[in-house]
Amino acid sequence: MRLNAQGTDVGSRAWVLSCIPSSAPNSLYDICFVAVRSLVEQGGFRQRSTITGAFAPSTTRQWAKTHDFQIFESAMEHDVELPSFTVGYKNGFLPRQDPLARLPDRFFTLEYLLKQMPINLPDGNKGLLARGELGDAVKKNLPFYDVSDVTDQRLLSALFRDYTFLASAYLLEPCDIMYREKKNYGLGRQVLPKNIAVPLKTVADKIGANPFMEYALSYSLYNYQRIDPSKPITYPNLNLVRSFAGSQSEHGFILVHVAMVANSGNLVRWTMETMNSAAQQDRNRFNVALKHLNDTMETINQEMENMWERSNHEDYLKFRTFIMGSKNQPMFPNGVIYEGVSDKPLYYRGESGANDSMIPCMDNLLQITAQMPNNPLTEVLKDFRNYRPTNHKQFLEYVQKRAEDVNVRGFAVQDANSTALYLANMDQIRAFRHRHWNFTKEYIIKHTSHPVATGGSPIITWLPNQLSTVLHQMAKVGQTINYAELSLENRILVGEIVNRASIQERVLKREVSILKDRFGESQDNNRVVV
Ligand code: HEM
Repeated sequence: MRLNAQGTDVGSRAWVLSCIPSSAPNSLYDICFVAVRSLVEQGGFRQRSTITGAFAPSTTRQWAKTHDFQIFESAMEHDVELPSFTVGYKNGFLPRQDPLARLPDRFFTLEYLLKQMPINLPDGNKGLLARGELGDAVKKNLPFYDVSDVTDQRLLSALFRDYTFLASAYLLEPCDIMYREKKNYGLGRQVLPKNIAVPLKTVADKIGANPFMEYALSYSLYNYQRIDPSKPITYPNLNLVRSFAGSQSEHGFILVHVAMVANSGNLVRWTMETMNSAAQQDRNRFNVALKHLNDTMETINQEMENMWERSNHEDYLKFRTFIMGSKNQPMFPNGVIYEGVSDKPLYYRGESGANDSMIPCMDNLLQITAQMPNNPLTEVLKDFRNYRPTNHKQFLEYVQKRAEDVNVRGFAVQDANSTALYLANMDQIRAFRHRHWNFTKEYIIKHTSHPVATGGSPIITWLPNQLSTVLHQMAKVGQTINYAELSLENRILVGEIVNRASIQERVLKREVSILKDRFGESQDNNRVVV
């Protein structure tokens, strides 16, 4: 085990290798997915149904019933009809094509406003948000664009990103100004004008999203540009498209997410392989899949660790205001009226990594979701799952159901070495959530007593609800292992994993109890808005 300065483990992969027989093949998935790949290559997907139909929930449920889910081997980069966010072995949970970085000339003023908007402009000057001038600029200069004719999915995604950026900046501009002066958010603008609200709603309907800023569809995963398009999606090769603060820390914050999710194609691949091999009760294949899954999660966790140096914790609250939601936030006690769209106020959760699909995929695969306590915090976790691209939602539902059907956990615990591998993967989820809890303490709780996170969850209790479940489940799984059947090396390492989990469980309980005292009744379960 290697620990970093924050006390977070940064990897212990060698031991799991010893669980894998040396004769095991390393590309078993090639065999399993030939059928789906050839179907896609031959255009069978198109012939069978319309694009919309193929992604409609009923069709996907049918795939799920037949223990199959359509996952693309290639990212289908040239296709402008499939949704941008379609789960694939190449792109994983990232969009199939790199996001459109600049709008067509027809949307010149929208593009111009977004470029002038950030607090810090690239030329060193201050932008509209720094001077509190965005609201007026929107009212005076933004045309009422008609977007009803747009069908190109890449452009629709870019327009969604851009209108949600503008909507959040417009609604939260007064809160940012107030927070800078008084460390209090005050009230946001309560009405979204129709030159933002109507095109935003039109585009949102076309891509099946809520008309509000989202993690995948706008702020994080649809907001990067490759510096050299011929090179892979890695942090040094990425630039941001849109931002609120225009700071290096916002750049780092967003692009660390992208660099992590760039590994999710492998996560999807080994998730499918784990379920397929469990279905066929093929122990060797199952162990190989779990080993690769563990390696993939370790790479993702190592990338996450870079957050500490890529985004300064002291800067986080300078852009966080703009990713707050209109649901369960005191800045919008009565939601937001969308002019020309709805006379009734609308409420949406804010942008949050909680809408990322990697950890829910692991939770579902390892059947941890079903172990979450029955309480309002877990209801919030489920609600978060509505705020993601449709195909991600369908994939996660599919994984949850299929993992239960083939009983991934049950198959793992029949064998000591499989259990060790299964536990190693739980440990990756623990490492992610533990590091994440450390981020939250350092970037947020240390600097503010605002009781609600950007996604609208209670800041002290929600993350520990999931982290403590994982820690507790790890202890339970640890108890099922017959240590006599493990190699000496694995015996020591499983012991380390279980031990660390038990220590972290105790420390977490103490921390939450102390922090709850500081934040008071705002963290009570009966205050949680689902
Ligand atoms: C400075 C860094 C970060 C901070 C301060 C932070 C903060 C938070 C907070 C406060 C929540 C609670 C949900 C809400 O918004 O209401 C949350 C949830 C979440 N965030 Fe982050 N986050 C950070 C980085 C990341 C990164 C890099 C990822 C990678 C994808 C991520 C993924 C998640 C996930 C998966 C959840 C749900 C956790 C769970 O299911 O237990 N976050 N984040």
